[in-house]
Amino acid sequence: MDVCLSSTQQSGSLGGGLRTPGGWLEADKKGTLQEDGSRGPPRGSNKEEPSLHSLQTFVPTNYSSYTQENYLYAGKEIIIQESIECYGAVVWPGATALCQYLEEHTEELNLQDAKVLEIGAGPGLVSIVASILGAQVTATDLPDVLGNLQYNLLRNTLKCTAHLPEVKELVWGEDLEQNFPKSTFYYDYVLASDVVYDHYFLDKLLTTMVYLCQPGTVLLWANKFRFSTDYKFLSKFKETFETTLLAEFPESSVKLFKGTLKWE
Ligand SMILES: C[S@@+](CC[C@H](N)C(=O)[O-])C[C@H]1O[C@@H](n2cnc3c(N)ncnc32)[C@H](O)[C@@H]1O
Repeated sequence: MDVCLSSTQQSGSLGGGLRTPGGWLEADKKGTLQEDGSRGPPRGSNKEEPSLHSLQTFVPTNYSSYTQENYLYAGKEIIIQESIECYGAVVWPGATALCQYLEEHTEELNLQDAKVLEIGAGPGLVSIVASILGAQVTATDLPDVLGNLQYNLLRNTLKCTAHLPEVKELVWGEDLEQNFPKSTFYYDYVLASDVVYDHYFLDKLLTTMVYLCQPGTVLLWANKFRFSTDYKFLSKFKETFETTLLAEFPESSVKLFKGTLKWE
């Protein structure tokens, strides 16, 4: 088993340390960022270098209590700081199902250097695993969970992944063209786990999924199916995406779908 913070191969690695729970690290402010450019050219057509942008600071997430959960994927121990005070600070069953799938199908998915964006990343387990498996990852969520997300990403990928993952705010259906212009941002994969449950933003979620997918983009969506709203969303999803059921996890009621946008 391998652990992070041990090698020095990372593009855009940091020389500074991590801070306290829910907090963020200071290293970029001290100018210790290095861009060694040692890896090959980026896949896809994104013109921005994600490792630099991942170093924006986010307001530290301020939960009153935290727990730490340990996971093992891709031969690495991953430690996730969680808090039961927020949906977005807990690892959901869709995330572990999707991580298992990514781990078992890495070569087939051709994840090395792939451009990957996760929506509703929460505490970040899926983004961390995709990053460990070699992808160039952008993890997104609502503003109030980004501090904890970034903490977990850095803690588990710093100096042990080829590409340092980026963290960005992405509120479903809001300012997509402004923040993710299609001419600049192309993704090989859009990942989503347990983003569908009984909430008011399902239409905006679908709009966001559609927006982020361009020709060639594959959406991998894992979800625990609980409510009638989940199945209604799936029906709408199938109207919009060519949909394949890739895996089922009966013990957790999770289904994993692959979607590619239907082009008329
Ligand atoms: C149930 S959690 C799943 C978290 C993580 N993907 C997992 O499976 O462990 C749902 C996630 O969607 C995010 N979310 C909810 N509504 C959102 C919205 N309108 N825009 C962006 N993210 C949203 C939440 O902050 C949360 O991180």
